[in-house]
Amino acid sequence: MKNSANLLLVDDDERLRTAAGKVLAAEGYRVVGAATGREALEKLKQAAFAVVVSDLRLPDLDGIALLKKVREQLPESEVVMITGHGSVENAVEAMRLGAYDFIQKPLDSAALLKTVAKALEKQRLTRENRQLRRQLEQRRGVEALIGDSPSMQGIKQLIRQIAPTDVNVLIQGESGTGKEIAADALHQLSGRHERSLVKISCAAIPETLLESELFGHERGAFTGAAATRPGKFELADGGTLMLDEIAEMSPQLQAKLLRVLQDGCFQRLGGTKDIHADVRLLCATHADIPKAIAAEKFRHDLYYRINTVQLVLPPLRERREDIPLLAGHFLQMFAGTMGKDVGAIAPAALDQLLAHSWPGNVRELNHVLQRAVALATGDTITDFAFAPTPTTGAANQETTSLGSGISIPIGTTVEAATRRLVQATIEKCAGNKLKAARLLGIPPRTMYRHFSGLDQ
Ligand SMILES: Nc1ncnc2c1ncn2[C@@H]1O[C@H](COP(=O)(O)OP(=O)(O)OP(=O)(O)O)[C@@H](O)[C@H]1O
Ligand SMILES: [Mg+2]
Repeated sequence: MKNSANLLLVDDDERLRTAAGKVLAAEGYRVVGAATGREALEKLKQAAFAVVVSDLRLPDLDGIALLKKVREQLPESEVVMITGHGSVENAVEAMRLGAYDFIQKPLDSAALLKTVAKALEKQRLTRENRQLRRQLEQRRGVEALIGDSPSMQGIKQLIRQIAPTDVNVLIQGESGTGKEIAADALHQLSGRHERSLVKISCAAIPETLLESELFGHERGAFTGAAATRPGKFELADGGTLMLDEIAEMSPQLQAKLLRVLQDGCFQRLGGTKDIHADVRLLCATHADIPKAIAAEKFRHDLYYRINTVQLVLPPLRERREDIPLLAGHFLQMFAGTMGKDVGAIAPAALDQLLAHSWPGNVRELNHVLQRAVALATGDTITDFAFAPTPTTGAANQETTSLGSGISIPIGTTVEAATRRLVQATIEKCAGNKLKAARLLGIPPRTMYRHFSGLDQ
């Protein structure tokens, strides 16, 4: 049987009910009728209905009230309203309140069947999307790192091996190569997974604040320290602490961190009590630390402490065989979240992906797919657009020429204009926010503070 969904048909006109009921039943639907709003509510308590088709005007409770009840109590069900002549305004109001669609009297069988079928299709897609999203969210551990290339297999194997140990890991890789996912996996596969994974970026926070963020402070330790606050080390006790962008840490703080790692204890700012925290440390950076050591910007003794094992995530351009798999993953993910029926990438478009240099690595691929799915009109992506690449195509360079511009119409608020500029610059830098902040001439923290919620 092609249609077996349960439908509730609500109308006080018995003739209409019988006629419409027959048309729907002939298609295989199971139809239950109700003559009043109250009767409909009773029936809704007794069984689940995929679609409620209801007259807008009912003798007791009107169709809008019924619609509100259904929306509140049965969010899965769709509601189609039947309207009389001249009540289109009410129908529009009903749609604003969540009705799927409306059909006008006199009831046309074909229109009725088509609307019900479309409502059911929408329901099916919503359900499918939810399921997909759940599946994608469930990717945990190394499964979240998509890629089958020999280098990615090696990375996953190493993660599995070292995760259960307590060794400090230095995760290195260009921006967008998946350092944060690797850190998540190391924590999830460790014996510490039931405790917290606390993350802090050393780049986004000014030095003095970073110290108190890491080690906490006592009340009155500095102006504005109105209450005692534990730091990230304490919060991560028993769990894992991820120090992101570790190369951005000032030499003074590097010295303090080194002492904490040597002694195994620390004091809150303004405090005298030694605090012990059992923390496994994961540090991440896109910088070349040996080079920073040579330039005397990073302490070699700290480097040896945080670098018991090194995990180096390869740039995407060095493992192009992973591109189709990653592209397929992002395609499915974005089609699911955007509710679009895009399921394929044309061979010529895939060639574009394979030929690109990917200065922003997997994050850039993620954004390219997101844009392509958003703009797709058919079921196949035939063309990809790339953000203009930095001048030499090499990743993580210090400067980027902003060739193209953005146009901002007169009347745009300064705040909205700033947001657009920041967003466009981040895109231009292939998602590298540090580089974007540098180009914009603002401290990264300003960007993070004002524009948190941009991207992820
Ligand atoms: N192997 C991968 N499989 C699936 N998604 C990935 C992979 N690598 C990166 N991503 C995705 O790319 C984006 C960036 O990843 P992540 O934040 O881990 O990068 P990162 O190396 O920490 O970059 P940055 O140095 O800029 O912080 C995220 O959306 C992440 O989900
Ligand atoms: Mg990161």
